[in-house]
Amino acid sequence: MSPIDAPERRISTSVLVIGTGGSGLRASIELAERGVDVIAVGKRPKNDAHTSLAAGGINAALGTMDADDTWQQHAADTIKESYFLANPHTVEIVTKGARRGIEDLERYGMPFAREADGRISLRFFGAHKYRRTAFAGDYTGLEIQRTLINRAAQLDIPILDSVYITRILVKDNVVFGAYGFDLSDGTRVLIHADAVILAAGGHNRIWRRTSSRRDENTGDSFRLAVLAGGRIRDAELVQFHPSGIIEPENAAGTLISEAARGEGGILRNALGERFMEKYDPERMELSTRDRVALAAYTEIKEGRGTEKGAVLLDISHLPRETIMTKLPRVYQTMLELQMLDVTTTPMEVAPTAHYSMGGVWVRPDDHSTDVTGLYAIGEASSGLHGANRLGGNSLIELLVFGRIVGEAAAEYSAGLTAQMRSTEAVEEARAEVRDTLAADGEENVRTLQRAIRDAMTEHAGVVRDEAGLLEGLAKLDAIEARFANIGVHPDVAGYQDLAHAFDLKAAALAARATLRAALERRETRGAHNRSDYPELDPSLTVNLVWSRDDTIARERIPPVPDEIRALIEEVSVEGKFIE
Ligand code: FUM
Repeated sequence: MSPIDAPERRISTSVLVIGTGGSGLRASIELAERGVDVIAVGKRPKNDAHTSLAAGGINAALGTMDADDTWQQHAADTIKESYFLANPHTVEIVTKGARRGIEDLERYGMPFAREADGRISLRFFGAHKYRRTAFAGDYTGLEIQRTLINRAAQLDIPILDSVYITRILVKDNVVFGAYGFDLSDGTRVLIHADAVILAAGGHNRIWRRTSSRRDENTGDSFRLAVLAGGRIRDAELVQFHPSGIIEPENAAGTLISEAARGEGGILRNALGERFMEKYDPERMELSTRDRVALAAYTEIKEGRGTEKGAVLLDISHLPRETIMTKLPRVYQTMLELQMLDVTTTPMEVAPTAHYSMGGVWVRPDDHSTDVTGLYAIGEASSGLHGANRLGGNSLIELLVFGRIVGEAAAEYSAGLTAQMRSTEAVEEARAEVRDTLAADGEENVRTLQRAIRDAMTEHAGVVRDEAGLLEGLAKLDAIEARFANIGVHPDVAGYQDLAHAFDLKAAALAARATLRAALERRETRGAHNRSDYPELDPSLTVNLVWSRDDTIARERIPPVPDEIRALIEEVSVEGKFIE
């Protein structure tokens, strides 16, 4: 049989979860614990979903190390560091629910690091007023992923981790399932479901240097949601983590956890200067991520970086024991990738695209979207982080909202009395896969993916300006024009080439949303640095919401409750652009 006409498998469930990382698994567990039929599908082996890369920790104001900490202070720190673009209601839900999120993990068997008396240990992460980041060495995400997979196995949750979803199926703005194909043999998969939870990550792999691996965080969630009728909020707000490794080229961007600075690591330029003294003398290396990333970028750009274009992160002064117990992944990563021993030698690092702080537009309470029956969570969603995410907040977000969204989808499914389906929508999805497979042109999908990443890196990186963003859009138009001539060639090894073609379409959509919103945000705020608008503009204390017709709407952000506002100290952007 020709690959174009592979058989189709039909599946029915109450709730379909797209994505098998932490948020997808936590939502699936909630559904299964409530006795609801759920299937989780993903495009990566479940043990290796992106959550497994999350390193340094997960936030909750447990007060086990600093008794004065409260969820209100956690909320205040989150809103302050979001430069007031986080939705206060979303923030309250996460920070208030964080303790329960940690307790859920404990109940599932998560091996948190503990003090001698059994209390959960908490470490400092940048810009937190107190120690509130729980951890398992610097393998926190991996341990969370394992813990959730074990719990999902106890509950017999079906996880199909070689299914690539190409479309969410919708009839009259109401979800009725999804369509995709099996990555190993190309079998088409038609899944009917009452509700769909989108947990397929963000879009930071559309930059050249990124902490995501190949083929993950390619913007799939953005494309799936937008084609279904959803919108994207704050696509321009992408967090660049200060410390990604710079070589080897095929691993450039791999993260060196903020835990390295949390445990006492020091940043220096090639002249040996501890450069954070200039940018944030009080908080130094534990300043906010946006500031540390911009500082490292500025040092490199102005010629004070190393020959290879990096700054130096040094943990060699820390006790070997600290490195081995609290930073084992940093130690292993540098040995594996560079044969460098961090107990004796500083690492060369540079900013790396790390996290989509924006994402699919959702309501704060239950993360429902513009499309009835469609929910989004985790990095796919938006509302918590604003213009600068606090490290450790993403892992707790997925625990808190995984539970809430699971509950919301369960209730929605239980309340359905009938469901309309559309044969046209299914046929359109089938035809799209068929036509993409039939493509036999000369353009190589990988080359086009690289072209998008190059354009985004050059024109929408740590520092942006209008001319560059417009040039980025023009390049994107030219790259998209070449899509008509791609060739897609699955082989005996599987249908990855077909997946790459869909990843490419997703990357293009995510890039357009990002460039357009970055143009519209004519100010410097958090991770969004506009050299042509170096000041924060109070009139832009709004979220920017991008729609499929390429328009952008400004969305008002609700006021910060008084009890939280009272805990917020002054926000300053002074010292950001020191040139
Ligand atoms: O640096 C880190 O360990 C990253 C943590 C995070 O992004 O939350």
